[in-house]
Amino acid sequence: MSRMSSGPVVHQETEMVRQIDRNAEPPSPGEGRVRRGPVDLSVALAGVTLRSPVVSASGCFGSGREISEFYDLRQLGAVTVKSMTLEPWQGKPTPRMVETPSGMLNAIGLQNKGVEYFLQYDLRWLNSAKVPVIASIAGNTKDEFVRVADRLRGAPGVIAIEANISCPNLEDRDSMFSHDAKATAGIITAIRRQVEVPLFAKLSPNVTSITEIAGAALDSGAQGLSLINTVVGMAIDIETGKPELGGVMGGLSGPAIRPIAVRAVYEVHQAFPDVPIIGMGGVMNAHDALEMLMAGATAVAVGTANFVDPFIWPKLIDGIEDYCRRHQIARVADLVGTLDTAAGDREWTAS
Ligand SMILES: Cc1cc2nc3c(=O)[nH]c(=O)nc-3n(C[C@H](O)[C@H](O)[C@H](O)COP(=O)(O)O)c2cc1C
Repeated sequence: MSRMSSGPVVHQETEMVRQIDRNAEPPSPGEGRVRRGPVDLSVALAGVTLRSPVVSASGCFGSGREISEFYDLRQLGAVTVKSMTLEPWQGKPTPRMVETPSGMLNAIGLQNKGVEYFLQYDLRWLNSAKVPVIASIAGNTKDEFVRVADRLRGAPGVIAIEANISCPNLEDRDSMFSHDAKATAGIITAIRRQVEVPLFAKLSPNVTSITEIAGAALDSGAQGLSLINTVVGMAIDIETGKPELGGVMGGLSGPAIRPIAVRAVYEVHQAFPDVPIIGMGGVMNAHDALEMLMAGATAVAVGTANFVDPFIWPKLIDGIEDYCRRHQIARVADLVGTLDTAAGDREWTAS
């Protein structure tokens, strides 16, 4: 991957926060549907129609405000915003990011300005840009999650809530919510009561059986799943003998984790074929997005690729559309879960 400094800086707050159109109408999710030529790019996600199958992954796109100067964000199906908590969080000590072969490790620690800031600034801006929003929520306790979800009730333009349950659980310090089926069930049940829009549970790949955790989330009221969050990893500076990340361990993202993500999406789609999945993990181009769709994702989220190429979105959408045209696929939704495993049924011979 090229260094993180390439392209414009897309994640810093700017003076543009003052330019919010406070009278803006929120978008309707299907509005501005991208339908170029014969290919219908829209997908249905838990009853909500997205105009295209690609969305931003939480934490990797800010609110999209900076990049919107360069292209129309309405090409995206939705923007998934940085996970927000009840109060602002300061995050972990620096360094917070380190590049690794085919990926990067981050230990940001969910730094964010809190749900009130989101409602007052980011959401208003996203409404003015007419971009549907997937609101990612986080917390250290069940009560924190519930209160953030409650605060977002009726928020204009929020088409779904994504519960980032892949963060530490202070009520059970030994685990993250999504590392345990019982904890997953408890937190999703509690959040579900507050949420009027579709609820997606964002799951961790760092488990023995992701289908077991997915089942617990779905039985408890999640209508969809976001797969996958980062893979836990670490890197050591051998000259200093210190960890490269201030937080010691971090989350690995980017192409290095794509096969893990594709496998997770495939496994969960096989177990729950009717459940909408937002697939993510190492998607860098249209090929990778198509791989996710074929594995069973209804929509595809893109995170780390934004740091490498902030202009990836139009290329992704054009590439998906080209593929569909070449293969005479009228609707991108028809690709979901079309993986043909029969081709993989080979007989093993002893060598
Ligand atoms: C810098 C950075 C910050 C992230 N912040 C969040 C976050 O706030 N909430 C969340 O659910 N996931 C967060 N993620 C995880 C991504 O949303 C995504 O699940 C993961 O990076 C895999 O996708 P990718 O390989 O396309 O980046 C973050 C990832 C990165 C790289």
